[in-house]
Amino acid sequence: MKISPKMKKALNDQVALEANASSSYLAMASWCEVTGYEGGASYFYAQSDEERTHMLKIVHYLNDMGATATIPATKAPATSYKSLEAIIKTALKSEQTVTAAIHKMVEIAQKEKDHSTYAFLEWFVNEQVQEETKFETLLQKFDLIGRDKLAINEIDKLLAAQAAAPEAEPAA
Ligand SMILES: [Fe+2]
Ligand SMILES: [Fe+2]
Repeated sequence: MKISPKMKKALNDQVALEANASSSYLAMASWCEVTGYEGGASYFYAQSDEERTHMLKIVHYLNDMGATATIPATKAPATSYKSLEAIIKTALKSEQTVTAAIHKMVEIAQKEKDHSTYAFLEWFVNEQVQEETKFETLLQKFDLIGRDKLAINEIDKLLAAQAAAPEAEPAA
């Protein structure tokens, strides 16, 4: 095994965090779909896929390092939400938790002089900056455009446009 047991555990915990993020975004997408937020649905289905690719990146890394990834059980996500705004607030909070976990792993890598994992994590550090900014900017829209039905419809259209636009890869 080319990484420490501590690093292995942290990375496996991260696999679980990404898996939970993927299923929670899937639940949000499904709620949007049945509620009539087509943009929100496309946006969060794509977001769910994205979290799955994050999870896979870590699974492959663990296996490449001879540390064997553990595929975790996922927590059952919420089945109903208060509003589109509430979903985006929850998403931002979840991204902040993920960022903190990634920063903790970077600190472990630094302490252990684990240069491979440090380099591997750089992509995730940059990705989290993008993720938090994305949701912060979306939340601002409710203050800027409004919270009445027409405003929410505009924001839903915005989500549709963003779901259709390819996302830039973070610099690694
Ligand atoms: Fe992620
Ligand atoms: Fe994310």
